[in-house]
Amino acid sequence: MIIAIDGPAAAGKGTLARKLAQHYGLSYLDTGSLYRAVGCALLDAGIDPHDAKAAAAAARNLDLANIDAGNLRTAEAGEAASVVSANTQVREALLRFQRNFASREGGAVLDGRDIGTIVAPDADIKLFVTASAGERARRRWLELKGLGEDVDEARIRSEIEKRDARDQSRASAPLKMAEDAHLLDTTKLDIEAAFHMAVSLIDDARDGGVSA
Ligand code: C5P
Repeated sequence: MIIAIDGPAAAGKGTLARKLAQHYGLSYLDTGSLYRAVGCALLDAGIDPHDAKAAAAAARNLDLANIDAGNLRTAEAGEAASVVSANTQVREALLRFQRNFASREGGAVLDGRDIGTIVAPDADIKLFVTASAGERARRRWLELKGLGEDVDEARIRSEIEKRDARDQSRASAPLKMAEDAHLLDTTKLDIEAAFHMAVSLIDDARDGGVSA
């Protein structure tokens, strides 16, 4: 079974995807970490993420199977990821790895922005996870604070909104809900409630004849 999870920044996709992977015994790929790794490789080398040629080269040279996601969660990495992710050559360089991961034996859960539309359009289940901008900003603020970053919640909100607008309006694989995705609004749900709702959507879809 392939589960595709998409949605805007800080909607709770990652936590949900991890729990679903564990519940169904599937492998998990956080595709945002690939874009964050490209962005960080450039920042570490002192290169502007808007440098299209350098970004494409960084994406091609990354060891995608061995990315240390732990160092990539900063606000700066998220911003750099959003810039490089609009680069078509960067997306192309990362696509095959994601498709191979999705089709691995035993099944997989992937989360990102274009999983249900581009990476795994034939996924068995597609979830589009969202929440209000205010709630997403609050969650990202708590996450960054937990990482020791001294950040202002209003600034986080404006950065998230800017990032979502960029992700939705780019020409290459923009963030959008696949036509056959299930919408899951987590604004008023904690992670356990979102998880239970996702499990019931998935189990209903499987019982309805979708192959596992
Ligand atoms: O999900 P996360 O915040 O880690 O993603 C960082 C950025 O990477 C997003 O804002 C988006 O621009 C980009 N991204 C993407 N396609 C994906 C996953 C992430 O464009 N499948």
